[in-house]
Amino acid sequence: MKKINPFVIGKYVGPEYFCDRKDETQSIVNAIENQRNLTLISHRRLGKTGLILHIFNHFFRQGDLVLFYLDLMHTNDLNSFVRSLAKAIIGKFDKRTTQVLKSFGKLVRSLRPSITIDPATGKPCIEVFLQDNTNPETSLDEIFNYLKHQKKHVVIALDEFQQITHYPEKNVEALLRGHIQQINNTNFIFSGSHKHMLTSIFGDYSRPFYQSTEFLELGKIDRETYKVFITEKFEQGKFNIDPVAVELILEFTNDYTYYVQFLCNKLYGQNIKNITNELITETFSAILKEQEVVYYNYRNLLTEHQFNLLTAIAKEEKVNMPTSKAFIKKYNLGAVSSINTAMKALLTKEMIYKEKKYYRVYDVFFSKWLKCYS
Ligand SMILES: Nc1ncnc2c1ncn2[C@@H]1O[C@H](COP(=O)(O)OP(=O)(O)O)[C@@H](O)[C@H]1O
Ligand SMILES: [Mg+2]
Repeated sequence: MKKINPFVIGKYVGPEYFCDRKDETQSIVNAIENQRNLTLISHRRLGKTGLILHIFNHFFRQGDLVLFYLDLMHTNDLNSFVRSLAKAIIGKFDKRTTQVLKSFGKLVRSLRPSITIDPATGKPCIEVFLQDNTNPETSLDEIFNYLKHQKKHVVIALDEFQQITHYPEKNVEALLRGHIQQINNTNFIFSGSHKHMLTSIFGDYSRPFYQSTEFLELGKIDRETYKVFITEKFEQGKFNIDPVAVELILEFTNDYTYYVQFLCNKLYGQNIKNITNELITETFSAILKEQEVVYYNYRNLLTEHQFNLLTAIAKEEKVNMPTSKAFIKKYNLGAVSSINTAMKALLTKEMIYKEKKYYRVYDVFFSKWLKCYS
């Protein structure tokens, strides 16, 4: 088999390509083993989905749990939620499919699973539709009933869970909470990137999920641990890389998982065996150039004032008080009231985020591009 690039992006291929997260893994495994629900929160691209799949891989080898993962990002109503849940339960098309469909079909009559060909891959996959004249609430009842009939303990990961607050149906939280409360053999990992929304789903006294889970906030991977991982992977591929070069990679990418992986993947993929500081700098600039079309598009989505403010934040890297006199003067940003309005817009558009009292540009590469080229 061809050797893969060890800096994997966008999928989970196994523990040997997964850096650290030992403490977090232990906490989540402990929650699962003790039947507690847990909510995993972090900014986008730090590694929530990867961590969930890593943990699922851990249990998969043991085989005494049934694990289902679903990403709610692209669901937009209860109907699509129910169909995603059913699809996750039925699983991908394999030799077990006929058996699963049979037992699923017995208890879930309101849904119609069918085998179709995925136009993207040309391979068979499962699609699920609601039967005519049924409503998704009935299907949800039936799916929970099916889960109750499972002999093994079930764990369901609902990724990007805050998405349910955008559904047009107003009762989704109460509906789900009701089902989750009544099922004994199933636990949940809720996960998402919107801290504010998730803490209010689970932390507001008046909401159905109030205090129903424990929280785990995922931070960046520790720099020293990442250094060891990066060095090891390059050395296994017969590259030369010294500690200063590894430090530079982490400096450029702000220790942010996705960006670290991306830069390392590019460096590895060029197959130039001597990873010097110059090579890192050149590769990094090339990535920013490649992304330029996207950045110009971001620019079009913002007003001139918002863009100037964003650029000012990028140039400072992190900003504590965007309305301070010194910051306004340095970047000629105008009235405090208009800065407050622009900050709100940038937060809503997820162009910036706040971490430990500081505002930063969300996308690390974009931030560096703004800093260097704007
Ligand atoms: N511990 C890790 N080691 C190596 N790569 C990781 C790790 N965690 C995540 N990744 C990679 O980083 C990127 C972002 O991770 P992801 O799990 O998608 O973030 P999130 O779900 O928080 O948005 C992905 O490309 C993923 O493959
Ligand atoms: Mg994710």
